[in-house]
Amino acid sequence: MTETIFLGIESSCDDTAAAVVTGDRRILSSVVSSQSDLHADFGGVVPEIAARAHAERLDLVVEQALADAGLGLDALTGVAVTAGPGLIGGVMAGVMCAKGIAAGTGLPLVGVNHLAGHALTPRLTDGIDYSYLMLLVSGGHCQFLRVDGPDAFTRLGGTIDDAPGEAFDKVAKLLALPQPGGPHVEAEAAGGDAHRISLPRPLLDRPGCDMSFSGLKTAVLRARDTLIADQGGLRAADRRDLCAAFQSAVADVLAEKSRRALALSPVPVLAVAGGVAANGEIRAALEHVAARAGARFLAPPLRLCTDNGAMIAWAGIERFRMGQRDDMTLSARPRWPL
Ligand code: KG4
Ligand code: ZN
Repeated sequence: MTETIFLGIESSCDDTAAAVVTGDRRILSSVVSSQSDLHADFGGVVPEIAARAHAERLDLVVEQALADAGLGLDALTGVAVTAGPGLIGGVMAGVMCAKGIAAGTGLPLVGVNHLAGHALTPRLTDGIDYSYLMLLVSGGHCQFLRVDGPDAFTRLGGTIDDAPGEAFDKVAKLLALPQPGGPHVEAEAAGGDAHRISLPRPLLDRPGCDMSFSGLKTAVLRARDTLIADQGGLRAADRRDLCAAFQSAVADVLAEKSRRALALSPVPVLAVAGGVAANGEIRAALEHVAARAGARFLAPPLRLCTDNGAMIAWAGIERFRMGQRDDMTLSARPRWPL
């Protein structure tokens, strides 16, 4: 039997990415070209700038991924591409690139849901079996998924407003810290007192696994303004204490909701993906919850937790193995719930 080798293409947000992955879970190459420098001055991803940059970079990133893998297009079994959800211009650029390769080579084309790419990553990195629980926590997403198969996902809950990464970024902005804010808030929190300023734990008083983070950000804003009014300014220690209080509130909410998700849906593994999974306190809190529920905690390496082409190639392989293919009518879907 010949080996399965897929090219995966990702361009749904602000990373242009391509990777070559084998059916036996080897990542032969993974190239990620970040656009964060292009968007830094705007305080968020600008869709038009992102789409243009993807269109300019996709060919180069794909060429690099093939070169790093030491393979030509003729060695591939198929091409997988993120077909949504995401910023429509970027997704379209990726889909067009993948269609061009498929049309030129005759290779099978497989459209992949970006969220499925994240959700299936622990199968690529650790070879785990179905079923497992995935907590996806990034700048744009926050949901619990029970993963039962390559296209069998059950959403157990998620944020009703902001994603946690978005809240980290907004809190960083409130405290004049650089963007993306998550790592800066975490660094400040390391030297702070999480107990000095008390912040809410939104939605913990309600049953279920839904979460809310926008009120927490507003609570940080109010606490900041009270400190400024009382003291005539914000001291470095205040900033550290606000960051520590905020981070521990997010960790508490994610941990308690994960506990409930595991209770609702007992599975042997709790896995995380998304940029927020980089946070040490949050990881530790989730690890603790998993251990208490008798589950294994799994956090893929960070470069595979954030947007990348390898997860798309892998999700494409899983769909391909189920006999699923797309044709030239594959279109970009800005909204595409799992
Ligand atoms: O998954 P990701 O790279 O991109 C998408 O949102 O798709 O996640 C980025 C988010 C940003 O909001 C960033 O502030 C957050 O992840 N983040 C963190 C940390 N590192 C990145 N949040 C908390 N603590 C961190 N150490
Ligand atoms: Zn993502």
